[in-house]
Amino acid sequence: MSAKFEADARVRVNCTVNGKRHTGYAEPRTQLCDFLRHELHLYGTHVGCEHGVCGACTITLDGRLARSCMTYAVQAEGAEIGTVEGLSEPGTLNPLQRAFSDHGALQCGFCTAGILISTTYFLADNPMPSEQEVREMLSGHLCRCTGYEGMVRAILSVAGGGS
Ligand code: FES
Ligand code: FES
Repeated sequence: MSAKFEADARVRVNCTVNGKRHTGYAEPRTQLCDFLRHELHLYGTHVGCEHGVCGACTITLDGRLARSCMTYAVQAEGAEIGTVEGLSEPGTLNPLQRAFSDHGALQCGFCTAGILISTTYFLADNPMPSEQEVREMLSGHLCRCTGYEGMVRAILSVAGGGS
């Protein structure tokens, strides 16, 4: 049976983000992306279209990719969440992030957090993807700046599938 909440009630939400336990409060209608940003002060997850199209808000939720704009914060009770802040230590870049920098895979960076999360998930499942597979994965994200070419090069360089 699903839980019922008063429309304007603030509900306690306990979750683990990037291995660290967090507790915050959210209205039943609060999107998970807004909970992460405004309640937990994790601003790495970006919010673009707010209806599941652009991919900017992509996170992992209990080990699967999720659009955090399409997920209510209360649905994250007890969940394990992964955000871009968890990809490397503060002030450092992991190999994928370094490759994005080296290959000019970002300009404004608005799309980047979600793409890094999706790419990390994708490469864990398919460590040696073809260029076509990389392009298909990226088709789940909108980038208005780069034309995607640098991203493809960066991802293939980390995967060892090209330069
Ligand atoms: S903000 Fe979630 S998909 Fe665009
Ligand atoms: S780098 Fe600007 S939207 Fe992708």
